[in-house]
Amino acid sequence: MSAVMDSYRSILDQPESRFPLELGTRNPKIRKLFHASLTSQWNPVTVIDWDAIDPAAYTPEQRMALRTRWSRRAWGEYGAISESPALQVRFCHDAVDPDARLYFSIRSQEESRHAEISYLLAEKFGGYIDAPAADYENSVSTHGVRRLALDLDVPVECTVAALVCAAEQVIFNLFKHVAEITTQPAIRKTYQLILRDEARHCAFGWYFVASRLPGLGAQGRRRIRDAVAKMVQEVELNGYQIAWLAPESEASRAQIESDRILWEAGLGASVEELEKPVFVSSLRDIRGRMKREWDIELPVFHHPKTGDI
Ligand SMILES: [Fe+2]
Ligand SMILES: [Fe+2]
Repeated sequence: MSAVMDSYRSILDQPESRFPLELGTRNPKIRKLFHASLTSQWNPVTVIDWDAIDPAAYTPEQRMALRTRWSRRAWGEYGAISESPALQVRFCHDAVDPDARLYFSIRSQEESRHAEISYLLAEKFGGYIDAPAADYENSVSTHGVRRLALDLDVPVECTVAALVCAAEQVIFNLFKHVAEITTQPAIRKTYQLILRDEARHCAFGWYFVASRLPGLGAQGRRRIRDAVAKMVQEVELNGYQIAWLAPESEASRAQIESDRILWEAGLGASVEELEKPVFVSSLRDIRGRMKREWDIELPVFHHPKTGDI
């Protein structure tokens, strides 16, 4: 075990101290997101007319690509399910604004419906695939948020800034692009439903970090910057969302090829030439917003496929 591992201090080893328990509104913007979530429920089983989808109308290659695409989506959404509760525990431990504690419980629930609808689409088109190919697992399995969320020595705003304001914001922008070029009605609707939820998830991140800034000095801001930079460089630019950014392998090549098959038929995927400008401008927007709203300057990012961003 390395020295770094030895020094890991988990909040789970701390005694729990819950009282005095404040539940009044401290952050009206986040409380509003909570109430918006409560009135924006949808059920994956009934929100789509599943019987209206005829898998036989698609070629075997398209069906295989859809299975792969939506299985991969399900893995990503499951990542949120497995990690979101760790942040919930952290919010309660740190006694952050009650609004955030209430809101995040429903945020986890929303990720669950994203996972289920992705699973159902994969099933519809030939069967959900329950694990990535071995040489691809590192790119898609996790962004390490569960561990970070429970790490006493990592301030919670660093994790939220990296996970939400960087990673989730990038996904949101990519999904918006894909939704716009998708013509298959059930798939387009799925993207739109997920996007409506994700708009709130992203808003939460920006509101939450903004609410923490007054308590942070220059050092706290630096830590946020480093956490975001690490997420972008080591997770996003390693192909967590986008196959053409992943290290070249047989699996990533197959993923790129299957996304192209879907894109050509309006079946809910995009290709490098269209996705690249969306991805790059998404990172530029994030950099601009962090500078404007948080006075935090992100470093320049680099990937061979995009150059400096
Ligand atoms: Fe999601
Ligand atoms: Fe989300």
